[in-house]
Amino acid sequence: MFALKSDRPGTKAGPYSDLLLQARGLFAGERDATANSANLAALVFHTLPELNWAGFYWLKGGVLVLGPFQGKPACVRIALGKGVCGTAARERRTIVVPDVNAFPGHIACDAASRSELVVPIIQGDRVLGVLDLDSPRLARFDAEDASGVEALLREYLAATDVEA
Ligand code: SME
Repeated sequence: MFALKSDRPGTKAGPYSDLLLQARGLFAGERDATANSANLAALVFHTLPELNWAGFYWLKGGVLVLGPFQGKPACVRIALGKGVCGTAARERRTIVVPDVNAFPGHIACDAASRSELVVPIIQGDRVLGVLDLDSPRLARFDAEDASGVEALLREYLAATDVEA
């Protein structure tokens, strides 16, 4: 008999499977993009430890524009290809940055941020935006965080009507 990942103390599978269930609960009966993204940002920020910022940027007219978030006020517009967010959106891939000072072109919105995870939000062949998580701890995020947040965003996309 082998233990399920979530049964093992000290792994992150627990937090992410709980988060997924809580996200499903928040999205139940609601398909509005602002409501669901605002609640997802709040859920992630208040559930995952060691975050100083969690929020969305939406791709509008070729530029990432600040969406619902938790944390200090942040940069409003990020050009595609700029910073971690613009790079994740342009390259359509999740980016884990263990040390933001070592990422060329990193945009410092909050001086407290030391590491970062950015996951692009893609529907069909269209990039809708990114979800950005920042931490004051170096190397806060790993592959489990990346796949956990990707799963949360799949849940978000399935539950939400995306604006044209
Ligand atoms: N650090 C990000 C900018 C967004 S803030 O961290 C909220 C970047 O380099 O794209």
